[in-house]
Amino acid sequence: MSSVTYTEPTDPQPEIPLAGGDVTEGVVRVGDTVRRPVGPNSPLVHALLGHLEEAGFAGAPRFLGIDAAGREVLTFVPGEVAGRPRPAWLADEERLASVGRLIRAYHEAVAGFVPPDGVRADFGFTEPPGMPPAPPYPPELVGHLDYTPDNIVFRDGVAAGLIDFDIARPATRVEELMSAMLYWAPLADPADADPPLRGLDVPRRCRLLADAYGMSGVDRSRLVEVAVLRTRRSWFSMRQIAEERGGGWARMWEEGVGDLIKRREAWLERHGPAIEAALTAP
Ligand SMILES: Nc1ncnc2c1ncn2[C@@H]1O[C@H](COP(=O)(O)OP(=O)(O)O)[C@@H](O)[C@H]1O
Ligand SMILES: [Mg+2]
Repeated sequence: MSSVTYTEPTDPQPEIPLAGGDVTEGVVRVGDTVRRPVGPNSPLVHALLGHLEEAGFAGAPRFLGIDAAGREVLTFVPGEVAGRPRPAWLADEERLASVGRLIRAYHEAVAGFVPPDGVRADFGFTEPPGMPPAPPYPPELVGHLDYTPDNIVFRDGVAAGLIDFDIARPATRVEELMSAMLYWAPLADPADADPPLRGLDVPRRCRLLADAYGMSGVDRSRLVEVAVLRTRRSWFSMRQIAEERGGGWARMWEEGVGDLIKRREAWLERHGPAIEAALTAP
């Protein structure tokens, strides 16, 4: 557990609940800070945020310590997140490209970060029986892996900050780009897509993200394969985490996220070839 105790400023500030997240209960803003409950992955995340600060990466909150209530204290990242109902700007191609560039900048900054000894990078997850194998590519960096519209802060129409590193772990660049495409292309059955993202040219948006990031040729050719494998695995992992942790995870499962994942898999199998063609075209 992190041992840094946060010293409160002398004038007390009110706690303002922050909506918009999917799973974490009790996220509040206090002055220029955010307080969040700590979880099994917090030691990794705190070390990661410390590394990003040392690397001079401005696109992530700073970890300031643990408050008297045992919550992590992070700097508040000013700007706008999508929220619900989803704004029309979610479809904007300039914003999409800026997401790709921000992820690239994060990867430049995170390169060289090695999780400290004794820190579990799998947050205690044991694979349930029947879970299909992971993609056969070794991790390249510690990925954020959760690039939802509510986890990216925009300023002046440009993606400027990443928040919510709760599921950060060693990952490949392809998995990182897959996460971004999942929400921003999106890789979803149109019935499940956020309304502003319905009816768009998804292969084109995947290509825009890949180009803005500067994805390698090899990674472009692996994206669909990895997306299908990760989608299949996510059905098992979401069910398991819902059982083990309850709370927001259980709520998502009850609300049908498992069926959504199955629809995504079918959609990916149908549209994978078009996505791969768009990604790898000269
Ligand atoms: N450091 C931060 N700076 C600015 N806003 C934040 C920060 N952390 C959280 N928020 C706001 O609170 C919402 C929920 O927090 P988040 O950490 O994403 O929780 P969840 O795990 O539920 O997704 C975010 O979508 C964002 O609007
Ligand atoms: Mg979030």
